[in-house]
Order: sequence, then structure tokens, then C-alpha cells
Amino acid sequence: MTLSALVNPSVLTQPVYEPGKPIEDVARELGLDPAGILKLASNENPLGPSPLGVAAATRALAHGELYPDGGCFVLRQKLALRHGLAPEQFVVGNGSNEILELLGHVFLRPGDEVVMGAPAFIVYKLVTLLFGARPIEVPLVNHRHDLDALARAITPRTKLVFLPSPNNPTGTANTEAEIHALVRALPDHVVFVLDEAYAEYLDNPPDLRPLLAEGRKVIGLRTFSKIFGLASLRVGYGYGSPELAGLLNRVRQPFNVNAIGQAAAVAALDDDAFVREARAVNAAGLRELEAALASRGLLVVPSVANFLLVKVGDGGRVFSELQRRGVIVRPMKPYGMPEWLRVTVGTAGQNGRFLSALDAVLAG
Ligand SMILES: Cc1ncc(COP(=O)(O)O)c(C=O)c1O
Repeated sequence: MTLSALVNPSVLTQPVYEPGKPIEDVARELGLDPAGILKLASNENPLGPSPLGVAAATRALAHGELYPDGGCFVLRQKLALRHGLAPEQFVVGNGSNEILELLGHVFLRPGDEVVMGAPAFIVYKLVTLLFGARPIEVPLVNHRHDLDALARAITPRTKLVFLPSPNNPTGTANTEAEIHALVRALPDHVVFVLDEAYAEYLDNPPDLRPLLAEGRKVIGLRTFSKIFGLASLRVGYGYGSPELAGLLNRVRQPFNVNAIGQAAAVAALDDDAFVREARAVNAAGLRELEAALASRGLLVVPSVANFLLVKVGDGGRVFSELQRRGVIVRPMKPYGMPEWLRVTVGTAGQNGRFLSALDAVLAG
């Protein structure tokens, strides 16, 4: 018998996630010096990690022989204070990606449906398929989620609705009023997931607490990978009702979040100066990039996140040519947008380097 005959069939058809190209891969493949490569491909923080987070992580390393606190006690206490909720309302994951998978474990069975926009963060679809459920993809309108259309896609089989706001890859957001109205219109058999990976870049992120107080089946997902600059340490979290958080906590692995990451996340939550600077650098860079790309006659999707979409024609070619010049961006073919690139907002210097490289590629 072949090995594949033994395999769960949904694994054989499972698409593979294509991450932003790591600097080391590009350096190896193209014979470039890694130190000279600029990565603007994964919406990471161009300022680096939170300094308070790094100091705490370094201290935590001294106790690397011990298993971490699987319950993330200190981090959940801190998150509870910050969100005005109770610690029992939180589940911490190995990045918010893990929480997406935990939602699949808790809710999805073959034949279930999961409603999501398209294009939206690809992991929703991957998790749905992994559990043998059906992704129901609702096209965005003007690059923005159409919440009425999401509501219309709900059937008796729908289990989950995923809404990223701001959305990756478009950088567009929905308002709190729109989100509240959608959730209040959902039937009782549906769990609503608001993916807030980029919420800290918004002036007024939507407040889910009124919905939780009404007993709605909602969960918000946040991450330390973006504005806190801790993507490498893999810490994200979800918050919802104690019942929902309890279910997600039940299916996670006992030590899913390492102690270095927990310590860094706890400290980064106090790093207000760093977060303020990251927001300011991003806001300035976003304006600068949008204006610079528009002045070159390129179509840009107005973004409220730390990245933007730009239409360059042959996205695959421009991506490869930029990479040869040591600048890594994200080709959008996997998102069904082959003419577009997604570019993370960098520092002023990084944005300038990207624009010069782009000019050289487009001139050639
Ligand atoms: C919308 C969205 N959600 C979730 C994630 C996952 O973040 P992490 O697993 O690093 O917390 C990302 C990462 O790019 C994202 O863009």
C-alpha cells in the first residue's frame, strides 16, 4: 500500500501556504549579501522588535531549561487589564495563526461552511480545507469587505465567518458600526471571528465588548507580530466569552507558547513609546509611498494598515526583478491578483530604496 493511500484525503489536496521570502533564501538563491537585502514582504515592523520586549526575552532565556507557563497567566492578566475583560476570556497562541487553527479544531467538521471575503488572509481558507469544510468566498467590493454580501452567504451549514479588519492583502477596514450590525444580524449557529492583526494601526479599532456583553458569539484575534515587532517569537491571542476561550484552551497543546515569547509580549504591552513611534513612522511612510506610487501613474489601494497594494502590470516579473535588486515584496498571484504587489511600509530610507528599485525595474 502506498503511503498516500493511508493519508487523510484532505491532506493530499491541502494547498501550501506561500510565506514572504526569507532574506536568507533570497541571499542563497541569488548570491547576495543578506545584510544588503530589504524585506518588505510580511508586514513586519521596520523599526525592529520592541526594546522592552527584547530585554524581557533576554532575561527569560536564562531560564530556558524550564517549561513555560502553559496557561500564560501573567500575559492573560495583563491582556485582561488592557482590554477591560477577565483573564478567562483569553486564549494565547503560537501566533494568531494558531488560534485560527484552534477554531477549526473546535468548530469545523466535513460539510460545514466557512464564510470569508476574497481576497482575504489565505490562512482562513487553508484552515477550512484542512478540516474538510467548505470555504464560501465572497468577492470584495472596491477592495473592501462587503458585509451585506457576507451576511447573504450564510446558510444553515455556516459555522464560522472570518473578517480581517484591516484586511490583508488590501489594507482596507470596515467600520465599527458595520461590524456591529453584521454580528447582530448573524443567526445563532454562527461564530464571528474579527481578525485584528493590524488593529493597533487604526485610530479607533472597533470595540467588540458591547457584542460580548450581549452574549454574541464573537472572538477578536490580535498578534504581537506586527506593531510590537515580535513576529519571530510567535505570540498571538484571541478574546471572547469565557466559554469560547475555554473551548479553544481545551484543544491547544499544553506548552503552545514559549516562555521567551510570553515574557517579551508582557513587556511589549508596556512599550508605549515604541508603539507610538511605530504608528507615526508607519503613518508617514504610508502617505509617502501612496503619493510616490500615484505620482508614477501606478494604481494604489488606499490603506489603513502597514502595507499597501500597488498595481504594476506583470506582478511576477516585477517581484523577481526587485528581488534581484535585493528588495523582497509580496507577489499577489496566490491571492488571485497577478498584476499587483503588496509592499510593507518601511522607514523613510527603506521606502526610498524600494521606490528606486521599482523605478529601475519599470524603466527596464
Ligand atoms: C490578517 C492576518 N491575520 C493573522 C496573521 C498571523 O499573524 P501571526 O500568526 O504572526 O500572529 C497575519 C500575518 O500576516 C495576518 O496578516
